[in-house]
Amino acid sequence: MTDLLKQLEQIKKTAAERHEKHTRKALCEVHQSEYIEDNRTASGNYEGECPLCKTERESAAMAELANLRRIKRIKQSGLPPRFHDRTLESYKATNPRQQSALEAVKSYVADLDGLRNGRSLLMIGNVGVGKTHFAAGVINELVKPDNKFDAVYTTARDMIRDIRSTWKNPDRDESEAIDHYAKTSLLVIDEVGVQYGSESEAILMFDVIDKRYGSRLPTVFISNLKMAEVKAILTDRIIDRLREDNGLTVQLEWTSQRGAA
Ligand SMILES: Nc1ncnc2c1ncn2[C@@H]1O[C@H](COP(=O)(O)OP(=O)(O)O)[C@@H](O)[C@H]1O
Ligand SMILES: [Mg+2]
Ligand SMILES: [Zn+2]
Repeated sequence: MTDLLKQLEQIKKTAAERHEKHTRKALCEVHQSEYIEDNRTASGNYEGECPLCKTERESAAMAELANLRRIKRIKQSGLPPRFHDRTLESYKATNPRQQSALEAVKSYVADLDGLRNGRSLLMIGNVGVGKTHFAAGVINELVKPDNKFDAVYTTARDMIRDIRSTWKNPDRDESEAIDHYAKTSLLVIDEVGVQYGSESEAILMFDVIDKRYGSRLPTVFISNLKMAEVKAILTDRIIDRLREDNGLTVQLEWTSQRGAA
């Protein structure tokens, strides 16, 4: 019994000595901490990595991966590439009106509160004042590496054309097309009013908005028409739903910034 124990001790000792031979203490210059280099290469060098450095390297790689997934969701949104990098930070507010518009959009984003309320946003203003830039900013604020939110950007005309295209397509249901717009975390409908404004268009638009309203999902509407015209196009049924969820209207009343950025 004692012999067996002694043998066991010896085996442990030899293993420890062998390990010692193949390891070396090293100092991490970044962290000013000691660590063990435990890999002896064929050429007799010691190799190893500071565990703190390793953790940092791995979490940076994971963050990078998460960010790539986020960028993919932005690309999949249909937002034109020109606007992928447009954010609320890159928006320059050079006059009080722009400042208050920026504040309003920022407060809208804050109120989305991880999509807990279906609050919608209506932005109206002339061409070139930064409406689509703001929409890109909202998308970029919502779609983050640490969440799974997605977004769909479309013009009103493209959305209606897309849903209608299913009528002649046996492979795709109308309801499937509607769900693409109805189920996304955030829907941006740009250029409201550029569609033809027929009753069947209003009905399609309502189908999408009503489904989103039922799931308390937010929608951003953008138009360069006057408020009264926008209301007429969206119809009372949609306007009532926006109002009920405390919808926000932001009017961008200044001249074009195109080329100013
Ligand atoms: N205040 C601003 N700061 C930075 N860039 C801006 C600003 N306003 C507009 N832009 C830029 O000007 C161009 C036109 O804006 P855009 O959002 O397309 O206008 P709109 O959709 O209202 O027609 C875009 O490239 C946009 O990024
Ligand atoms: Mg635009
Ligand atoms: Zn280190």
